[in-house]
Amino acid sequence: MEKQFSGGKILWLVTGDITRVPADAIVNAANAALRGGGGVDGAIHRAGGPVIMQELDQIRAAQGGCPTGSAVVTSAGALPARFVFHAAGPIYRGGGQGEAALLASCYSTCLRLAEERDLRVVSFPSISTGAYGYPLEEAAAIAVDTVCRHIERDQTRVREVIFVLFDQGTHDAYARALQRLQPAVE
Ligand code: APR
Repeated sequence: MEKQFSGGKILWLVTGDITRVPADAIVNAANAALRGGGGVDGAIHRAGGPVIMQELDQIRAAQGGCPTGSAVVTSAGALPARFVFHAAGPIYRGGGQGEAALLASCYSTCLRLAEERDLRVVSFPSISTGAYGYPLEEAAAIAVDTVCRHIERDQTRVREVIFVLFDQGTHDAYARALQRLQPAVE
């Protein structure tokens, strides 16, 4: 599924493995400690190779971890990308702990990092909806809304955002979120 924006900008929803999809920056659903893990984080480190963790070690030494809702940048090793943006999504604790704003901040921070580097193509996984337990429909709405609001702005240099969703159920939830949003962005 896709959604087109003015100036040829486009948002894609695809099902698959984010480590196989070329982009300028691949976003990782990391943790605040930046120490790697399972899920998409494990897949990115396996496919990208040890250089990514070496750079995260340096970032950790310099600044500690990564605040929840923010992201840090490394190179991408063997991945088909120039950078990995490691975003620390919120652990879902019922919704009353600022989770929605923190999740939106993951997406907006990564898009800002892309703009700062003059990148054109950014891919995202479904941040926080795996091990971190964020309810899928709510997370999809936040992700799609935040990305659409950014990409529809005239001054953005990001041309293409790709949500790479690992399973059909996640893809379908993002598709529903995008359909609900259509009237607002057309
Ligand atoms: N490509 C795309 N999406 C993937 C991939 C992959 N290769 N592998 C898993 N996913 C999907 C999951 O199916 C889920 O829909 O990414 C989504 C996010 O799930 P998690 O990876 O568990 O991420 P999150 O919920 O944000 O939890 C982060 O898990 O692995 C640890 O270090 C990570 O502690 C952090 C926590």
